[in-house]
Amino acid sequence: MKTAGKPEPLRPPAFCYQRAERRSEPLTLFCELVALERLAERHGTPLYVYSAGTIRARIQAFRRAFRTVPYTLCYSVKANSTLGILWLIARQGAGFDVVSGGELHRVVRVAPRAARSVVFSGVGKTVPEMELALKDGILLFNIESASELRTLAETSARRKKQAQIAVRVNPDVSAKTHPYIATGLHEHKFGVPIPEARALYREAAKNSHLKVAGVSVHIGSQITDLGCFQDALLRVAGLVRELRREGHEIRYVDAGGGLGISYEGPQRQFVEQISAYADAVLTPLRGLDVHLLMEPGRSIVGPAGVLLTRVLYRKTNNHKRFLIVDAAMNDLLRPSLYRAYHEIVPVTCRSQEKETTDVVGPICETGDFFARDRELPVVQEGELLAILDAGAYGAVLSSNYNTRGRPAEVLVDGGRARVIRQRESIKDQLRLDRL
Ligand code: LLP
Repeated sequence: MKTAGKPEPLRPPAFCYQRAERRSEPLTLFCELVALERLAERHGTPLYVYSAGTIRARIQAFRRAFRTVPYTLCYSVKANSTLGILWLIARQGAGFDVVSGGELHRVVRVAPRAARSVVFSGVGKTVPEMELALKDGILLFNIESASELRTLAETSARRKKQAQIAVRVNPDVSAKTHPYIATGLHEHKFGVPIPEARALYREAAKNSHLKVAGVSVHIGSQITDLGCFQDALLRVAGLVRELRREGHEIRYVDAGGGLGISYEGPQRQFVEQISAYADAVLTPLRGLDVHLLMEPGRSIVGPAGVLLTRVLYRKTNNHKRFLIVDAAMNDLLRPSLYRAYHEIVPVTCRSQEKETTDVVGPICETGDFFARDRELPVVQEGELLAILDAGAYGAVLSSNYNTRGRPAEVLVDGGRARVIRQRESIKDQLRLDRL
């Protein structure tokens, strides 16, 4: 597509306002070289649009920041598990962090050989899930309880395999994030307190179907205070030293995921942010000679995606304004579930005037909103809005509530746009029902 004038970055490098064709035309939002208006016309709304270039650039930034140590980046599949996204990430040479047999199936589907770089996290792994992971030959099980350790030992014995394990420790460190996504305090269900972890390592070392290989930690998500990572890893480093003194072979430290992104306000340069994160993670591990595993999700895909939605109706109730849009909480749950802030912008800038309004969906719940009392440029019925930073925990958390089909998803790479998930039809939705 031809454009006129200099691009105005919104979420650089991919999402920029440009003038399509002529100078007299209003600024309109692009994803890489493709105008979002075009994609909405072609594929309908609500529509998830992702930038391949952003995902690649973010993985590259991780690469550069951690180049001084041996490491494997295990992208956390839960953040966005659409096959087209996993395929793109696998092509960058990444491994994966999975939390279910379903996620492992997805990984193996796009990159069978990537199974060897998979870590399996989660407090409730079932026997069939363990069997699948053993069959696929994954790298590491992150163990979260004594019962799970015993079940894995029995399962690998039955399958005549040996499972590599790390204990996911709960370091009792606050992640200073939303309480629903903090995991590193002793009151949370995640991980094993460090004193109990020592006993689990001893137990594991006695079993020939388990191989002690690492220590793992994950304290939460959307963490912006990097000191939290440093605190957690200091405790992990202490444990690694102790375990080695006891004779355990600790090759891996899995530092988990959790690096936050800027949903609001000025955008921090990712390259700078990631190098500060690398300092926070690597300083406590200095001199340990371990292979670092990382499980980032949001920081790879979050800013790479937007949710496009069309304004259906404008409405005023006793002076309170509402924009009723065609996306809803079933498409993007984060605002309803966590009161999460997502910046919302008009796709095409037709008005300079601003107004304060709620942006709500058509679902029959008061909690079905994307923004409350938000100052936005005035947009008319039929115009498009983009909800930003929807690449992580967007499509994956979608549902069929109100018998709404999940949105289509499009991956843009330069001037090319490819549907990586079709819009769910009513037939798709009714397929499993029985009368
Ligand atoms: N590793 C483990 C063990 C995790 O539990 C998580 C996220 C990650 C890695 C990836 O974390 P990230 O780098 O994406 O922060 N639905 C919530 C986020 C839930 C995060 C759950 N665990 C949200 O929309 O904010």
